[in-house]
Amino acid sequence: MKIRNITLVGAIVGLFIAAPVQAEQQQMKPISKAELWATTCFQCHGAEGQSAGGAIPPLAGYPADIMAQQLKAIKAGTRPSTIMKRHLMGYSDADIDAIATYLGSLKP
Ligand code: HEC
Repeated sequence: MKIRNITLVGAIVGLFIAAPVQAEQQQMKPISKAELWATTCFQCHGAEGQSAGGAIPPLAGYPADIMAQQLKAIKAGTRPSTIMKRHLMGYSDADIDAIATYLGSLKP
């Protein structure tokens, strides 16, 4: 009798845990490439592009056209940088446009 009660309690508790987890999984939507690439920026520029500023500026809400222009110049070596040039070598100009557009759309 005791063991049966424990099983029943376990099943009920399990239902309460499983239901919200399942609901959360169903709401997950696939993310765009730009969104995925932007997560690499957040390692240095702060979660969701919300850094405190200074040498590593916050990226959320950064005007997309200005960011794209700066990043292309850094990649080409005409704008000075330390780490950014290396990071950008893996991205094409079209990738940079997509990343800048995505980051510019985030709430600062
Ligand atoms: C390893 C750390 C690091 C990562 C990762 C990183 N950044 Fe930076 N970022 C910096 C630093 C440091 C600077 C200051 C310039 C420099 O020294 O390279 C900077 C500067 C910038 C600037 C200002 C450029 C300017 O000319 O004023 C922009 C815009 C920027 N990063 C965007 C990005 C984007 C977009 C990504 C992701 C694709 C990214 N960063 C990933 C460290 C990082």
